[in-house]
Amino acid sequence: MASTVIFSLPNSAIQTSFLPGTHQLSRFNKKRPFNFVSDKVVSCRASNGNENNEHSSSPNRFDRRDVLVGLGSVYGATNLVSDPFALAAPISAPDLDLCQKATVTSKTAGTIKVACCPPKSAKIIDFKPPKFSKMRYRPAAQLVGPEYLDKFTKAVELMKALPEDDPRSFMQQADVHCAYCNGAYDQVGFPDLELQVHFSWLFFPFHRLYIYFWERILGKLIDDPDFAIPYWNWDTPAGYALPAIYNDPKSPLYDEKRNVNHLPPVLIDLDYAGVDEEISKRDLIKSNLSLMYRQVVTYKTPSLFLGAAYRAGDPPAPGMGSIENVPHTPVHRWVGDPRQTFNEDMGNFYSAARDPVFFAHHANVDRMWPIWKSLPGKKRRDFTTTDWLDASFLFYDENANLVRAKVRDVLDTKPLGYEYQKVDLPWLNTKPAPRRPRQGKGQAKAAETSKTTVISNTFPIVLEKPVRIEVPRPKKSRTKLEKEDEEEVLVLQNIKLDRNVAVKFDVYINEEDGETPTEPADSEFAGSFTNLPRTQHSGGKKLDTKLTLPISDLLEDLDAEGDDSIVVTLVPKLGKGQVSIGNIKIEYVRD
Ligand code: C2O
Repeated sequence: MASTVIFSLPNSAIQTSFLPGTHQLSRFNKKRPFNFVSDKVVSCRASNGNENNEHSSSPNRFDRRDVLVGLGSVYGATNLVSDPFALAAPISAPDLDLCQKATVTSKTAGTIKVACCPPKSAKIIDFKPPKFSKMRYRPAAQLVGPEYLDKFTKAVELMKALPEDDPRSFMQQADVHCAYCNGAYDQVGFPDLELQVHFSWLFFPFHRLYIYFWERILGKLIDDPDFAIPYWNWDTPAGYALPAIYNDPKSPLYDEKRNVNHLPPVLIDLDYAGVDEEISKRDLIKSNLSLMYRQVVTYKTPSLFLGAAYRAGDPPAPGMGSIENVPHTPVHRWVGDPRQTFNEDMGNFYSAARDPVFFAHHANVDRMWPIWKSLPGKKRRDFTTTDWLDASFLFYDENANLVRAKVRDVLDTKPLGYEYQKVDLPWLNTKPAPRRPRQGKGQAKAAETSKTTVISNTFPIVLEKPVRIEVPRPKKSRTKLEKEDEEEVLVLQNIKLDRNVAVKFDVYINEEDGETPTEPADSEFAGSFTNLPRTQHSGGKKLDTKLTLPISDLLEDLDAEGDDSIVVTLVPKLGKGQVSIGNIKIEYVRD
């Protein structure tokens, strides 16, 4: 329930400043002045949330009352104030009879209609955990031997040979992603609201189930119920290249719609934003490992890691969790083929699962969930609300039965009969460090960053060029206990963009306008927002979502915990001018 603490008030409700009359420059500014004059710092004081003002003196800011006010305003229904959870309910599995064609749009190439609805079935059975005699271990793809590879290729070959209308066939399986991604399903009972499995707390459980059934089907086809799919170990240097087993043109694991500049032995840039940076192997590794540290270790609550709450009747895309945003989306983009109209296959959600490497990618995403839960910290756990646990999906299983599975069925991998082959996690020791003058990636990027411009202090900000914004902090110098209880987060609200554009922008905090660009190895690099083009729901509305970045650790590292405010720099990397941000503020998350 407490996962509701972050929500967006409508813009109209955000007017009151909570800054004291005499605005103090932050200690940070005094100590380490920027290279730009002070009027280049945009203050967003005029548009910070009034709920902070109301409750800034309360030690328990995100109490039930906050939630009530928030839901009341979101739904515009006053009776909710007395019981805001009356309508709260888990997202239910889609009605396959109402499935529609998906629409794929690109700014340059127009629109195509894609039929990706699954076959119908008169009968739906409830998910049961599999019976198994021994644990299956999903291997790291770079470590598999010839015997395993034979089995795996045979299985995928058989899947590709199934009749087109068999729900277990390769294309039908790929279309599951197309349908759930967007455009094909409405929420049951809410014909104007799409059912969306990305951009929220549904991301991890949905994809776990999806690849689980894919694996079961493969096992069935080769008559080996212990078969386990491989994972693309992109979090460790030995696994950075696209796994070689997917790169043999004669193999059923091959897909020709991939970026030819990113085939093995080229190493992946987990911070990829559409441009290949000139960077040494050493710096790339450092950047990738620091990014992994940031995205796993510094995200300490369920909503920060798994994603924002999304219930029946909610508009889709309330906010991505850590891994979904980065590096999940950059990996898709890095593999997708820029020669194709819609960056097929991996670079667009409607086609992503037509590339067999999709399932290895998502196995590694899935692997991050138990790793995250195993790290120290009492809030590294799953949500406990039934609004999440009872959310459900439909999949065809290995016997072509339509199965309804719930989030609660897949909280852990062991009851599902699988675990991941253990390998080193070098990124656990690669905490980003505060920035110091050093050699950068390249002139072009440095020049771009130093051209920081400033816009007027009215939100929404359309992100065409880098901007800097001063954001006040409602609390400072919190005790260790307070910090353990509530994570300080930077929230970018009402991020709006067309669904069909690729977007990446970076967020830096108290960044100095130095010679070299800020990189993931720097503490100042708070995170990124990423979007992969996706199918358009029939409503065709803009994506309206938020980005929540934990900053408690970062502020410690930057020695900025006593400051009244922080300076936030937003740097568009991909999709310049195509994304706007409604407001930026600091909140505290405890969920
Ligand atoms: Cu459903 Cu990698 O996306």
